Amino acid sequence: MNKKRILTGDRPTGRLHIGHYFGSLRKRVEMQETGEYEPFIEIADVQALTDNFNNPEKVRSNVREVCMDYLSVGIDPTKSTIFVQSMIPEIAELTVYYSNLVTIARLQRNPTVKTELAQKREIFGESVTYGFLGYPVSQAADITAFEGRYVPVGEDQEPLIEQCREIVRKFNSIYGEVLVEPEIVLTNTKRIKGLDGNEKMGKSLGNAIYLSDSEEEVTRKVMAAVTDPNRIKKDDLGNPDVCMVYYYHKLFTPEEACENCCRECKAGERGCVACKRELAENINKFLEPIREKRKYYEERPELVDKILIEGTEKARQTAIETMRKVKDAMKLNYFDKN
Ligand code: TRP
Repeated sequence: MNKKRILTGDRPTGRLHIGHYFGSLRKRVEMQETGEYEPFIEIADVQALTDNFNNPEKVRSNVREVCMDYLSVGIDPTKSTIFVQSMIPEIAELTVYYSNLVTIARLQRNPTVKTELAQKREIFGESVTYGFLGYPVSQAADITAFEGRYVPVGEDQEPLIEQCREIVRKFNSIYGEVLVEPEIVLTNTKRIKGLDGNEKMGKSLGNAIYLSDSEEEVTRKVMAAVTDPNRIKKDDLGNPDVCMVYYYHKLFTPEEACENCCRECKAGERGCVACKRELAENINKFLEPIREKRKYYEERPELVDKILIEGTEKARQTAIETMRKVKDAMKLNYFDKN
């Protein structure tokens, strides 16, 4: 049976957190386990460099961290192919050809690029680099080099997938039907908020719980989470809907206990400290098997390297095959004998 190829990835700019878990990792593992799909997962170090070009050590050190995060949540290297972007030069080659098929104005209008640029003023100031503006083109190459048919990502990635589809259609209309047009599979029904109540959990925002956090770190972070600001004394009546601790209880605490929490808070019968302790315990329960698996790989760096090398070799064969088709279609096959 022909499995449906999935292509996704992450920028290795930090360890992955529970926002990534609920946002995309969980869905990837689920899809992997159906046996219907063939997941390819890219550690997008080249893309990470577009806004971290002055910090190569950060990108380098996080390649293995992100790989261990994948493995720890259940991405299984016998079912999914994990690979490193920079080790597949065909992606860069494809990016060059695609760059003729997209206008600068179109890239500047890309909503994801626009939002990110607004957040990255300290890196780019008023003038953006060619590399950063062009990363959607490179991402189109990431997907199509491997004939990715489904791209499970969060909604923030939607404009990038749309841009990829446009490039594919343009390529196919000029050079012939060679490329596979990918489809987005939305993974996050809801975005996970930060412990501070920020709409987004992010490594740059300092409000995240990492999959690799220790028990103590989780407890410390949860104890500092933002609760109902109007609740000062324990018997003040609380409003769980504005409390980040309750928000997280809904993700990590069994339904009945969660309902109790809500009721007791509203009735002023539950102190925030006890409530936070209960939450920290439940998050730690959830993270325990993930931590254990991570520890296994942390103790075996040569195994992690082997997974990355073998995954990259396998992915590269696919990219070479696509590149051959692309060059044929573009009349760049000067010395082929056929
Ligand atoms: N842009 C994605 C992110 O920031 C990472 C990524 C790189 C990606 N290449 C990809 C996602 C290809 C899906 C497909 O999360």
